[in-house]
Amino acid sequence: MSKDIGIDLGTASVLVYVKGKGIVLNEPSVVALDKNTGKLLQVGADAQAMLGRTPGNIIAIRPLREGVISDYDMTERMLREFIRKVAGFSFFKPRVIICIPSGITEVEERAVIDAGIQAGARKVYLIEEPVAAAIGAGIDIAKPDGHMVVDIGGGTADIAVISLSGVVESASIKVAGDQLNEAVVKYMRRKHNLLVGERTAESMKIKIGCVFPKDEEETLDVKGRCLLTGLPKIITVSSTEMMDAFEEPVERIMEAIHSVLERTPPELVADISTNGIVMTGGGSLVSGFDKLVAARTGIHTVVAEDAISCVALGTGKSLDELNNMQDGTQNLSRRRQMN
Ligand SMILES: Nc1ncnc2c1ncn2[C@@H]1O[C@H](COP(=O)(O)OP(=O)(O)O)[C@@H](O)[C@H]1O
Ligand SMILES: [Mg+2]
Repeated sequence: MSKDIGIDLGTASVLVYVKGKGIVLNEPSVVALDKNTGKLLQVGADAQAMLGRTPGNIIAIRPLREGVISDYDMTERMLREFIRKVAGFSFFKPRVIICIPSGITEVEERAVIDAGIQAGARKVYLIEEPVAAAIGAGIDIAKPDGHMVVDIGGGTADIAVISLSGVVESASIKVAGDQLNEAVVKYMRRKHNLLVGERTAESMKIKIGCVFPKDEEETLDVKGRCLLTGLPKIITVSSTEMMDAFEEPVERIMEAIHSVLERTPPELVADISTNGIVMTGGGSLVSGFDKLVAARTGIHTVVAEDAISCVALGTGKSLDELNNMQDGTQNLSRRRQMN
């Protein structure tokens, strides 16, 4: 029997949904290879452990870093490994739905489809990330009723207004969780003369980071290298400082949300103000993001339950529709929009 598969090809992680089973794989989108032979050594979590710790002949890379396929060959190999892991050596090739950012070009779309086919899929369908996120968040998107989804991932933030199962207005910017980490690294250097690594910055973000004032200030002792002495040093950082550090990237995300609202037809804006805004993706888990969006837009905002898995769950739910689809369909979201 062939198993249909839904894939959330995220910049930070890949989640794979198998029909009838649910999410069966959740691994970082990282590959490690031997530089000399080009041989693939590891994918996913095993490759992640190698990032920043490789000897000269091994490189570990994140092929989707900025939301699109920046390294096509690596993406294809990574997909092939993941598909092989979940499909095993089945005689039938699976049909695969892959989730893509809404801002993707036709060339990039083609690259994703080719990567899926090369990776062993019988047929590849695409679905736009915010559409999958909305379905995964349990929103009934088939009605003529406007919903806004803000998905903040690792490399991209996708904002979309959805009605009648299609994307009416959207924006995709290359500012998301990764850029918040980078902002922390810069802040620590500028304010404290302390050099911290990206992983430290990420854990600071997760532990004490916030984008809206917390009820109670939190602090964390952070280890790094003092830029003045070159020696290890510990600095205590507060959640208020984290808010300062995040200011620039967070403002860019807020501007993108605002610009999508501005371009949205008035009837749909009215719907959104009734239905509220739904946030998904790992980046939306930074403390206070929902409060900030609500404060700036005046629209009730919630972070979806299971925010990190929403997109994968949405691709999974759309697998049920594959049999009702015309042959030749490739982009599920755009097909719906034309109906
Ligand atoms: N609890 C958390 N608090 C804040 N940020 C988080 C949390 N968990 C994950 N993240 C961030 O979410 C981002 C990854 O989100 P994800 O939706 O998995 O991305 P993508 O869809 O691009 O693969 C990373 O930047 C990560 O640091
Ligand atoms: Mg994502």
